[in-house]
Amino acid sequence: MYKYIVRGGNKIEGRLSIRGAKNAILPIMAATILSESTSIIHNVPNISDVYMMIKILESIGCKVDYNDDTLVVDSSNINCKEIEEEYVRKMRSSIIIMGAMIGRLDYTKISHPGGCAIGSRPIDIHLKALKELGIRIEEESGFIKCYKDKMVGATIKLEFPSVGATENTILAAVLAKGTTKIYNAAREPEIEDLQNFLNAMGAKVKGAGTNYIEIDGVEKLHGVEHSVIPDRIAVGTYMIASVMTGGRLEVDRVIASHMEPISDKLRSAGCEIEYTKEGLKLKPPKIIQAIDLVRTSPHPGFPTDMQAQIMALMTVANGTSVFHETIFENRFMHCAELIKMGASIKYITENICMVKGVDKLYSASVRSTDLRGGASLVLAALTVNGETEISDIFHVERGYEDFENVLRGLGADINKIEEIEK
Ligand code: UD1
Repeated sequence: MYKYIVRGGNKIEGRLSIRGAKNAILPIMAATILSESTSIIHNVPNISDVYMMIKILESIGCKVDYNDDTLVVDSSNINCKEIEEEYVRKMRSSIIIMGAMIGRLDYTKISHPGGCAIGSRPIDIHLKALKELGIRIEEESGFIKCYKDKMVGATIKLEFPSVGATENTILAAVLAKGTTKIYNAAREPEIEDLQNFLNAMGAKVKGAGTNYIEIDGVEKLHGVEHSVIPDRIAVGTYMIASVMTGGRLEVDRVIASHMEPISDKLRSAGCEIEYTKEGLKLKPPKIIQAIDLVRTSPHPGFPTDMQAQIMALMTVANGTSVFHETIFENRFMHCAELIKMGASIKYITENICMVKGVDKLYSASVRSTDLRGGASLVLAALTVNGETEISDIFHVERGYEDFENVLRGLGADINKIEEIEK
């Protein structure tokens, strides 16, 4: 077990280049299962979730090679139809493998991912969509068995624009007979990247990025070479680090439209953000202004994956902000840890809280509660004149490549050290 030791007070400034998005590479890795050939993927982030997905692919017979930022997956020989329970338990998002497995095979078995720290996270929408494609599903003792007696295109209206359900449906439908129409699809940029990857493999998917996606099934997919889109959430996190410490930041290779929901809120806090040919430039305000309301919603709304980080920013803003988390029912766990550092946060309901900016946060020993919550504590610690200890950083390492070294490169005094068991 490792922890971060952060001595705050330094400006986070300079130039940053960000690797591919966690939420894009995971479904793309699942998609490699659909091809009976080799997929070459560039700009792959070096994060623990990618290693977990590599293990899953290897467990079903894929040959995987990961070097620098390039991942090569040879999926010509899938020799196992079941996904070990342990993997799904450790990485809930591995459920997106289900659509690809049943797309390629006649049967698959996967354990029910269950809830996680941030919510109960049912998969009813995924299962309903697969059933509508003709997949027979049996659920027993926490496992899901999918049988492909037939798989035919269908008209599917998702009850909620779930990212994972949209991806699972696309992954299955690319090899279904006929046309699948998905209404109320999630519009997240990572789904567009999945579409681009699949189309480069010979699939016929259109509409990703909008709430209507149409898929014409094809018989077979072939090898592909693709580069993953930059991680908008990682970029947003480092932008907030700069704003909180008064540093200027330049980020290479961002996609402006992907950044807008985040940039828009940062402008409300007083930041100047300019998109350039290379990426973006951020100039922080002298005084961080409170943003009246931060309400998370599906893309292009404000992303739930940035809620904790922008809350860290608001803890030191001038004024009061209201936070309304609408995507996950338990995504305020970082609040209690921020309060230990002197933040003024009042719970209104389970999903609404009020954050009143304070002049200064102070040193404390805090614990990462989840991936983004952990990142928010590091951001808060960067402002503290003194030493903050942040434990359970394995959460953070699931989604941020080399977090402490990237921050150190931008001026932070942060170290990762092994925790001594008491
Ligand atoms: C993905 C992202 C995650 C992000 C989330 C919302 C990946 C790997 N993860 O997660 O980082 O926070 O989108 O942007 O891409 N729901 C149901 N039934 C379902 C499916 C979802 O009730 O069948 C609910 C969930 O419990 C949750 C909400 O819908 O409350 C959003 O979930 P979803 O969009 O599916 O998120 P994920 O795909 O799990």
